Amino acid sequence: MSKPRILSGMRPTGALHLGHLTGALDNWVRLQDTYDCFWAIVDWHALTTDYANPGPIAENVLEVAVDWLAAGLDPDRAALFVQSLVPEHAELHLLLSMVTPVPWLERVPSYKDQQSQLQERDLSTYGFLGYPLLQSADIMIYKANAVPVGEDQAPHIELTREVVRRFNNFYGEVFPEPQTLLTATPRTPGTDGRKMSKSYGNAILLKDPPEVVRQKLKPMVTDPARVRRTDPGNPDVCPVFDLHKAFSTPETQAWAAQGCRTAGIGCIECKSRLADHVVERMAAIYERRPQFASRPDTVWDILRAGSRKARETAAATMEDVRTAMKLRYPIS
Ligand code: TRP
Ligand code: SF4
Repeated sequence: MSKPRILSGMRPTGALHLGHLTGALDNWVRLQDTYDCFWAIVDWHALTTDYANPGPIAENVLEVAVDWLAAGLDPDRAALFVQSLVPEHAELHLLLSMVTPVPWLERVPSYKDQQSQLQERDLSTYGFLGYPLLQSADIMIYKANAVPVGEDQAPHIELTREVVRRFNNFYGEVFPEPQTLLTATPRTPGTDGRKMSKSYGNAILLKDPPEVVRQKLKPMVTDPARVRRTDPGNPDVCPVFDLHKAFSTPETQAWAAQGCRTAGIGCIECKSRLADHVVERMAAIYERRPQFASRPDTVWDILRAGSRKARETAAATMEDVRTAMKLRYPIS
């Protein structure tokens, strides 16, 4: 019996942070034990919003790959690959575009949200509208049975299921309907209390050494009502406590909550204990990272091998798709 298959992906945004760890990578690493996994660095998706200014894509791809490997994604068990090195994704995207009604894409929530959030860019493009359909192609081309994603991506998987049903209706059962494996994501705020994001400058990066982690956590915002050391605080409104919940042991969480409410501990102490746990959690990453960070050639070799493996699977699916859609000729 072959293992059920999983695919997920990330855009090549450069260095990853703790939010990526709690929101995706920790989960992906575990899934490698039970599933046949494909992990995609989706460079074409990056272009749907950054087409006017592609930036250092290759550098960013490399950084993501290094962080993935440092976090424990395992190239011996999973295919780590670059989307554009498997051009079959584009062919499937094109064919799916034939059967996908435009209103299905227009009603995906991220479409209007992103357009209004990124007002300075013209996102009235064909490629941006097709973003979730390209994602469907990413998933379907591996006949993935499940997709581990956070809540924000759930509508994209739902769209994929609809596209699968429509395709199979027209042309026969080619694709399985992928399940959404919702990753229960602990809230991981950045040091300013907002969502952790590289563009906010509030992120703790996987490549930050322990001193930098401590330095960044020290001035982190706390319960704003706790002004003096003698004021009791409320952990439920404190972003530091959110990080405790994501990284600290239950004992430390209880210590922080209780100490905070009774003014038994100060915020500096609380954050310093948090830093201990964060650094401890990053120990395995610190250990694995240098062998990849210092050897880009090795990392590119891993991506080459992963992309080849992905391409073999993708090519086999495209044979099925071409047959189903009657794209068969006596010549090739
Ligand atoms: N849209 C996803 C994100 O922004 C990235 C992505 C692209 C993806 N293709 C995918 C995720 C396929 C899961 C499966 O996070
Ligand atoms: Fe936040 Fe800890 Fe300070 Fe309480 S003691 S306000 S939980 S940092």
